[in-house]
Amino acid sequence: MIIRAERPGDRPEILALVEAAFPQPAEAKLIRELFASREYLPALSLVAESDRQEILGYVITTRAWIGAGTSLGLGPIAVLPGYQKQGIGSALMEATIAAATTMGESTIVLLGSTEYFPRFGFVPADSLGIASPDPSWGSHFMALRLEGFVAGQHGHFKYADPFNHL
Ligand SMILES: CC(C)(COP(=O)(O)OP(=O)(O)OC[C@H]1O[C@@H](n2cnc3c(N)ncnc32)[C@H](O)[C@@H]1OP(=O)(O)O)[C@@H](O)C(=O)NCCC(=O)NCCS
Repeated sequence: MIIRAERPGDRPEILALVEAAFPQPAEAKLIRELFASREYLPALSLVAESDRQEILGYVITTRAWIGAGTSLGLGPIAVLPGYQKQGIGSALMEATIAAATTMGESTIVLLGSTEYFPRFGFVPADSLGIASPDPSWGSHFMALRLEGFVAGQHGHFKYADPFNHL
């Protein structure tokens, strides 16, 4: 298996995978909108591809903001049912963190499971001074500081625009 950036032609397979991984259609709709958004970052739209060239996992990370500064919003992430719990999600997370670090980004922020994402270094965002768009998300709203973080980056988090249409 390899992790690589999305290529033209991958999108139907990515969307089918996301529809299979999530019980509701909201995530696939969100990804369609993120593909078309100004906040789309091609280097952070990653697929996990098997030796047989099947796409088994996908993660997208898009431009976001903390106060007046830039950040990244990670998600959705999905692994094809039947291939979950084999390390594919972890490989996608590690590749995203590595790529974002290379890009000089400051932080990655996400909303997700407090069981899963802390293993990659994510901590409650409010502990880093990052205010959630929705306080009811509590500790599920998490952030990871990268090497590009500079002191003073805190404030209200703003996702890419399509997240406002959920
Ligand atoms: C979440 C997801 C991307 C993880 O990918 P994966 O390839 O299955 O994960 P990995 O193999 O890297 O890691 C497996 C570990 O994560 C845990 N895990 C997987 N999904 C989890 C979840 N939703 N909540 C909590 N823990 C989860 C497993 O129990 C396992 O734990 P262990 O290492 O202690 O045994 C995948 O399960 C998935 O696509 N789920 C459906 C869509 C979804 O819920 N996406 C995330 C939205 S926040």
